[in-house]
Amino acid sequence: MDFDFDRQLALKGTHSSKYDAIEREFGRDDPDMIPMWVADMDFPAAPPILAAVQREVNRGYLGYFTNPKPVAEAVAGWYHKQHGWAVDPAWVRFTHGVVNGFGVALATFTEPGDEIIVFSPVYHAFFRQIEAMGRVAVESPLVLRDGVFHMDLEALAASLTGREKALTLCTPHNPGGRIWTAEELREVADFCKAHDLLLISDEIHMDLVFPGETFTPTILAAPDCVDRLIVLTAASKGFNLAGGETGLLIAPDDELRRRIDKVMVDREATPNRFGMLMTKAALSECADWSDAVRGHIAENFRIFAERIGALPGVTVMPMQATYLSWVDFTALGMTDAELVNRVLDAKVAPEKGTKFRHGGSGHLRFNVALPRPTLLEAISRIEEAFSDLQ
Ligand SMILES: Cc1ncc(COP(=O)(O)O)c(C=O)c1O
Repeated sequence: MDFDFDRQLALKGTHSSKYDAIEREFGRDDPDMIPMWVADMDFPAAPPILAAVQREVNRGYLGYFTNPKPVAEAVAGWYHKQHGWAVDPAWVRFTHGVVNGFGVALATFTEPGDEIIVFSPVYHAFFRQIEAMGRVAVESPLVLRDGVFHMDLEALAASLTGREKALTLCTPHNPGGRIWTAEELREVADFCKAHDLLLISDEIHMDLVFPGETFTPTILAAPDCVDRLIVLTAASKGFNLAGGETGLLIAPDDELRRRIDKVMVDREATPNRFGMLMTKAALSECADWSDAVRGHIAENFRIFAERIGALPGVTVMPMQATYLSWVDFTALGMTDAELVNRVLDAKVAPEKGTKFRHGGSGHLRFNVALPRPTLLEAISRIEEAFSDLQ
């Protein structure tokens, strides 16, 4: 089936965070602004997902949701078929999004004052959640080798205080777009074992790998870390369902799951009805859409990287997955405010690099999951914004 990823939906005024929270984020907006910040795609969801929602609307009943087993089976089926991990549906728990699941994991296994290791720059909500819960985020700076991020476990080992309780991994990595290799995952798992750390693996971007690339689930690389592993993921990024606020927490270990369940029951975490139905449809009926959208995104990134990477002093990080392109402007010597304002003046709203903490200054992240004509217009605007440097 052919899908149309080139039609621009009119999203302003639709309660879209990406379109309608620009003023709040940047202190200004423009009716013509192209948003490239929030991690949503501008595409409509796949037809089976829309049909699932439509069926529910037609019935008209919107009460609490129970009996999630068929959704857990869809999750297990997808993980197995797509990523080679034989998940038992009994291991799957549903949270109100991945960040919420991260909070559940922190609440279950850590105490206020505990230190949580994060490899930065990284998705900013990790920091918000850790700090809001009175835990301490400890940054382990990623290092650049061959133009892409690498973890520096030696430096991390040397900096340990003994107060660390958990390590957070993001694979594929946001904002680097790297899929950590089996060997790297193995090393991280060994590190967690050696220092008795819970390993929280956020795999939400697993379904956004570019054609020809392969995603390795953390557990497949390090099966013996099962007694300290919590996997957080969702159908929301790969299938553009973030408004459904449904995250998946997968804990293969019985004891870890028993402790998670206690916290979830205490919080009365009933799943979001629409999010559950959308997740089930996405993971059981939409493989063709997933293939098509990943092809579209990979080509968008190729075009974006070629043109933006040709600007003097600007480096686009190569990536294997996600639609979030990490761009290095540090050679231009601008302040972060100058950089963001220059792009906003050109009517493109980027994600501020500083939100990703260490290593974020002098960088911007651009979401390329746009209809091609919109992407091309955005690229021209960014080129124009930096034309005085040519
Ligand atoms: C790595 C990562 N984790 C979690 C999230 C957010 O997940 P949710 O909206 O389900 O809380 C994002 C969103 O961009 C992300 O990039």
